[in-house]
This record gives sequence, structure tokens and C-alpha cells, in this order.
Amino acid sequence: MKRLLLCFAFAVIIGIGNVAVMDTGRLSRESFPMGFVFGTSTSAYQVEGMANKGGRGPIIWDVYVKQPGHIANNDTADVADDQYHHYKEDVDLLAKFNFDAYRFSISWSRIFPEGVGK
Ligand SMILES: *[C@@H]1O[C@H](CO)[C@@H](O)[C@H](O)[C@H]1NC(C)=O
Repeated sequence: MKRLLLCFAFAVIIGIGNVAVMDTGRLSRESFPMGFVFGTSTSAYQVEGMANKGGRGPIIWDVYVKQPGHIANNDTADVADDQYHHYKEDVDLLAKFNFDAYRFSISWSRIFPEGVGK
């Protein structure tokens, strides 16, 4: 459910930013220009999880968040929203709610676990 709320919040922000004047006060797809793409977005660190697994190398932020006093509730990316395991469900939810697009990222250290090289 946390994932869904994030999706809706982002969609609303995009919508308001692109419609200067609303006559009716009601938003619908018809309120937007033809071809307007409704989407949502996530960032790897906040949703991916599996921070120490799946071939992902360490990043500076992994170390920083584990130092006491830096992050509320000692939250880390170790599990996050666990999109690593639930990405199919997440995409199903995006389709169910009729989004056209999904912008996401993959942790760079999953692609370059040692920072550089292969
Ligand atoms: C966060 O970690 C610190 C240091 O280990 C601990 O004292 C504190 O109780 C933890 N806070 C929470 C909300 O778990």
C-alpha cells in the first residue's frame, strides 16, 4: 500500500504542475493535452531492497545510514519496499491503476558492484 500511495502522490504533482487553469475543479484524463503521459516514479535506494544481496556492491549511503543518529528509526535500504522481489506485482498495480509510464532506477552498484570495471 505504501507503494501505491507514492504512485498517486507523484501523479498528482505532475498533473498540477502541467495544468495552469482548471475551470471545473475536477481533474480527469480529459483535462490534460492529448498525448499527456501519466506516470509514476521510484528511486532504487527507496524501493529496491536487497542492498547486500543480488550482486549489489556497497555504496557510501549504506555506511552513512548505519551510523547512529543519522536516520530516523535506523531505516536502511536493506529491505526498503522490496521491489527486487515484488517488481511484477508493482507493475501489475501500475497497470491496474491505468498509468502509462513508470520511471525507475537500478542501483548503480548492482551494475558495477566494485565501483568501476566490468
Ligand atoms: C537506533 O540505533 C541506536 C544505536 O544502535 C539505538 O540506540 C536506537 O535505539 C535505535 N533506534 C531505533 C528506533 O531502533
